[in-house]
Amino acid sequence: MMKVLVTGGSGFFGHVLIEKLLARGYEVRNFDLVTSDEHGNRVEQLQGDIRDYDAVKAAVAGMDVVHHNVAQQPISKDPSLMRDVNLGGTKNLLDACAASDIRKVIYTSSTAIFGVPKTVPIRTETEATPAEPYGRTKVACEDLCRKFIDDRSLDITLVRPRTILGHGRLGIFQMLFEWIREGHNIPVLGSGDNRFQFIHADDLAGACILAADRTGPAVYNVGTDRFGTMRETLEALCRHAGTHSKVRSVPMAPGVFFSKLMSMAGMSPLGAYHNLAYGKTNYFDISTVVQDLGWKPRYSNEEMLIESYDWYLDNRDDVLTGKWSAPHRSAVKQGILGLAVRLL
Ligand SMILES: NC(=O)c1ccc[n+]([C@@H]2O[C@H](COP(=O)([O-])OP(=O)(O)OC[C@H]3O[C@@H](n4cnc5c(N)ncnc54)[C@H](O)[C@@H]3O)[C@@H](O)[C@H]2O)c1
Repeated sequence: MMKVLVTGGSGFFGHVLIEKLLARGYEVRNFDLVTSDEHGNRVEQLQGDIRDYDAVKAAVAGMDVVHHNVAQQPISKDPSLMRDVNLGGTKNLLDACAASDIRKVIYTSSTAIFGVPKTVPIRTETEATPAEPYGRTKVACEDLCRKFIDDRSLDITLVRPRTILGHGRLGIFQMLFEWIREGHNIPVLGSGDNRFQFIHADDLAGACILAADRTGPAVYNVGTDRFGTMRETLEALCRHAGTHSKVRSVPMAPGVFFSKLMSMAGMSPLGAYHNLAYGKTNYFDISTVVQDLGWKPRYSNEEMLIESYDWYLDNRDDVLTGKWSAPHRSAVKQGILGLAVRLL
């Protein structure tokens, strides 16, 4: 039976991926700072820090495939922690994989490596142009992966997801969901006509699993094939929620300036990447992943945002009592944004 290590398996995407791997009949081990009891005794739990080489080596031992999902996110707003965990942790993991019999590594990279893209759609060969610390660590991790492919013959596939949604996705989306639940109006930057693509965690997990089945290094940009503008996506959620929330335009330059200032003052949960990306057009050409893997996304932008919101309403009590701790699985402190949204 295939033995699979998921790093970051207690996080938002990792826990969805684990369910899909279990459904395939794989033996799964989770390596994370925090253990998770949600898969019962079907998953071996190893608690550890990705920065600790010996712990990582023990996690890799005996595995066939590794899906690497540990990362410090933009929401942490701590560049040196991002560098230590994202780059240092990935180096530990790849060293440990190269020293053992790992058949395949799937590295979950990010759309953040492109910052605000100069041209769309972003293709797999588009040059990385990160514009903030998180994106820069992800580019450094991709470069490191290429070095391990060339120098150590490690079989690594880079999977770059667009912003991930789906049942359980919270973090800054929890703030959006709460605003809509309470019937507040929702800001978009400028007219909100920026085309913006998301990806559902189930669809992404499917792509990662297919990528792991394919021998040889590859790069895949992964997003939904049905998406419109930021305004259209948010308006669909507002209609679905039926709480009288409306989408309201905020002038782009002052909106971004205010948001950045509040982030720097520690009065907003938004990180540099969020301030950069929210008002800009950003989407992938997904033809390579479709052609190579025969993969097809199931969820449109609107369907996945609505599903995520409904999940939040159903699980709000657990969320607010801190049942899950990963940054993308927990509530955020709204800070000044909780007041600002009342003025829209
Ligand atoms: N969520 C998105 O929109 C998105 C988009 C693009 C790429 N990604 C990438 O997908 C991957 C998974 O993201 P997610 O949304 O599930 O994030 P998450 O924050 O929910 O999960 C990350 C997990 O990593 C663990 N972790 C953090 N530091 C650790 C350390 N030092 N040692 C061991 N474990 C540690 C956390 O406990 C958490 O369970 C990450 O690589 C992320 O960069 C996410």
